[in-house]
Amino acid sequence: MGNSVGIDAGGTLTKLAYINRDGELTTKVFPSNELHLVKEWLEQHPQVEEIGMTGGRAEQLRQVLQTMKSIHYIVEFEATLKGVRYLLQREGHAIESSIITNIGTGTSIHYMDGDTHMRVGGTGIGGGTLIGLSALTTGQSEFTHITQMAENGDRSQIDLFVKDIFQGMDAPLDGNLTASNFGKVGITEQQEHPVENILATVQGLVGEVVTTLSIQLSQQYNAKYIVFIGSTLTNNEILKRIIAHYTVLKKHTPIFLKDCGFSGAIGALINITEYSKNN
Ligand SMILES: Nc1ncnc2c1ncn2[C@@H]1O[C@H](COP(=O)(O)OP(=O)(O)OP(=O)(O)O)[C@@H](O)[C@H]1O
Ligand SMILES: [Mg+2]
Repeated sequence: MGNSVGIDAGGTLTKLAYINRDGELTTKVFPSNELHLVKEWLEQHPQVEEIGMTGGRAEQLRQVLQTMKSIHYIVEFEATLKGVRYLLQREGHAIESSIITNIGTGTSIHYMDGDTHMRVGGTGIGGGTLIGLSALTTGQSEFTHITQMAENGDRSQIDLFVKDIFQGMDAPLDGNLTASNFGKVGITEQQEHPVENILATVQGLVGEVVTTLSIQLSQQYNAKYIVFIGSTLTNNEILKRIIAHYTVLKKHTPIFLKDCGFSGAIGALINITEYSKNN
C-alpha cells in the first residue's frame, strides 16, 4: 500500500489517504479549487506509483495531473462505502445495516446492508450551505472560524421553538423542538443578533434538515443506526451535538467516525489494493 494514494476530489475539498513510512494511515486535504497543489504533492512523493481516484472532480483532477502513473477510478458511492466499512470495523462498530449520511458540500444519503448499498436520498443542504449562509449573514466564510464561533452561540432569539407557539397550552410535540429555523426573526421586533448566535442558528438549520431526512429514511428502511460522515463534521462539535440530540430523540443511534471526511479517499485506496490482489 506504501506506493499508493487514494484521492477523493470533491466539490469543495480534495482528500488524500495513504500509508506513511511507519505503516500508518495518513490523510491530507487540499481545496478543490487549487488542484495544482495535488500535482505538487505527487511530485514531492515520487514513490507513489498508483493512484485510486474518486469524487465529482476526478476528471478535472486527472486533467491537471497529466500523469503517467496508473489511475484506478472508482465511483464515489462505492469508494465511500468501502471507506465507511473500513472505518466502522477499525472503530469496533459491528453493524450490518445502517443509513449513511454524507454531509459534504451537499448531502447524500445511502442505505447499506451487508455488502449491498443504494442511494436513498439527499438534499442540497450541506457543508456548502453552512459556509454560504454564514458568509452572507455574518461575513464569516472560514470553516474553522464558523465552527469555533458557533460553539458559543445561542439560537433561542432566532429560532422559533414549539413551546414559543403553544404558550399556556399542551403542545402536540416536545416543546423544545424547532418549529421554524430562523422563524423568530420575522415575528419579533427587529434587533441586532451577535454573530455567534447567527452562526449557531445556521448550524442548527443544516443539522436539523439533514437529520430529519436521515431519520425518515432510517424509518423507511428499518435501520437503527445512522452513520454521519463528511468533512462538514470535522471538529464541528456543535453540529455533531445537534445531530446526535435529534437522532437520539427519534430513537435512532448516531455514529460519528474519526476521519469522517476521508471515507471516499480511504475507499479509493483500499480499491487499489483489492484490484492488485485480483489481477
Ligand atoms: N478546511 C476546510 N475548508 C473548507 N471547508 C471545510 C474545511 N474543513 C471542513 N469543511 C467543510 O466541509 C465541507 C465539505 O465537505 P466534504 O469534503 O465532505 O465535501 P466534498 O467531498 O468536497 O463535496 P461533495 O461530496 O458534495 O462533492 C465544506 O462545505 C465545509 O463546510
Ligand atoms: Mg465528497
